[in-house]
Amino acid sequence: MFNKRVKIKELLSTEPQGQEVTVMGWVRTFRNNQFIALNDGSTNNNLQVVATLGMLNDETQKRITTGASLKVTGNVVASLGKGQKLDLNATSIEILGDCDAAEYPMQQKKHSLEFLREKAHLRFRTNTFGSIFRVRHSLAFAVHKFFNEKDFLYLHTPVITASDAEGAGEMFRVTTLPFDNPPRNEDGTINFKEDFFGKSTNLTVSGQLEGELAATALSDIYTFGPTFRAENSNTTRHLAEFWMIEPEMAFYDIEDNMNLAEEFIKYIIRHAMDNNREDLEFLAQRLAEEEKQLPQDKRSDLGLIEKLEFVLNNAFERITYTEAVNILLESPAYKKKKFQYEVSWGVDLQSEHERYLVEKHFKKPVIVTGYPAAIKAFYMRMNDDGKTVAAMDILAPGIGEIVGGSQREERLDKLVQRMEQMHIPVEEMSWYLDTRRYGTVPHAGFGLGFERMVLFVTGMTNIRDVIPFARTPKTCEF
Ligand code: 4AD
Ligand code: MG
Repeated sequence: MFNKRVKIKELLSTEPQGQEVTVMGWVRTFRNNQFIALNDGSTNNNLQVVATLGMLNDETQKRITTGASLKVTGNVVASLGKGQKLDLNATSIEILGDCDAAEYPMQQKKHSLEFLREKAHLRFRTNTFGSIFRVRHSLAFAVHKFFNEKDFLYLHTPVITASDAEGAGEMFRVTTLPFDNPPRNEDGTINFKEDFFGKSTNLTVSGQLEGELAATALSDIYTFGPTFRAENSNTTRHLAEFWMIEPEMAFYDIEDNMNLAEEFIKYIIRHAMDNNREDLEFLAQRLAEEEKQLPQDKRSDLGLIEKLEFVLNNAFERITYTEAVNILLESPAYKKKKFQYEVSWGVDLQSEHERYLVEKHFKKPVIVTGYPAAIKAFYMRMNDDGKTVAAMDILAPGIGEIVGGSQREERLDKLVQRMEQMHIPVEEMSWYLDTRRYGTVPHAGFGLGFERMVLFVTGMTNIRDVIPFARTPKTCEF
């Protein structure tokens, strides 16, 4: 057996008693031909490997370069140096893989995040990205833990669908038809009957509609999968491929929905705080250093850890869309014409407005409900005023919209009427309407953009830095 090793994170938490262990990892630095800082990605803390003088011949010594991979066996002893509790006194050092120092792009110096985006295949080897992806993992694990504890079923909704859940029409097509000469109907349109599925299909923008089918029989379900949107938004908050968590609950109204969303967000943040403290502290420091470059008024009031604690310890603000518009209209920013986009009842809130509400006005996460029906999806439940729907968006400081959700329209006649108004093909969606035909129930759900959540918890500012390989307009590397 090759791999009988201990991971560095585990080793660093044990007491040094001269015990013999084997570790494997990559060299971060090599000093004085004697001290190797070894990292295996289990933690940002390196293990100090000490090579006794004379143990390495000249040739081996030259091969211990930044990035080279090693297998080291030795004894764990209390460290004489400061900065670490223990050392590994090597009795054998085997080079598993060489790394040419002249070529290796990940030398031990500070690289810009832009540079690392171009080298995304190697950026896992930096402390920043090590921390980000350990936190991302932890948040994903907490998502499943939360819903499992609440008896929700994890539902795998399809990636390829024939429906456009949001009615937004920003979808990636899936086809096996030849793009240079597709079969055509007599009127010149493309004949999708000859396509793989015999109809036009696309990558899913949301698992919600399928989620509703399951929830209206199994009560509580959630999805957690990749979703795809071909919106041409080249921003620090949009990806063309992102992961979304979508719970859907029977017998829930909009208030139950808000309560669940708030509890869920706090739960996964707490999980990361409890399990990833070191990584979060590292990221907090990274953020503080990055913010030193900014003018005073652009810096955050709270450090990353304090911000997360604040969110855990305070109730989210809950306001209606109408109240939000009034706050914006009364704001100094509006009066000084600082907003680029229009503010008026009926017009959707833009990211600058959302951020004003959470960052300047309330200084905490805000749940906005009761949006005008005309700017929201067809499935949202009409309120008694006949103008607004039981929608809820959760806005987070530094991010803007992090959750979008609603109570669903469970009344068949009202739903059909709304679909017709919005030109949603009622016939094609007959399967969806069956949930309203046969034992319809009040139900609700929401979608949390996973990368936006990871952005919030890690304090990173560009969504490309919290997903391993970002897909954005004109970029699809690796
Ligand atoms: O508000 P959205 O479009 O809602 C839905 O898809 C509903 N079907 C959810 C539901 O009720 N089940 O998207 C939900 C969330 C947004 O709040 C945002 O956090 C994230 O998904 N999101 C994106 N994240 C990254 N890149 C994009 N292009 C995103 N578009 C939406
Ligand atoms: Mg939305």
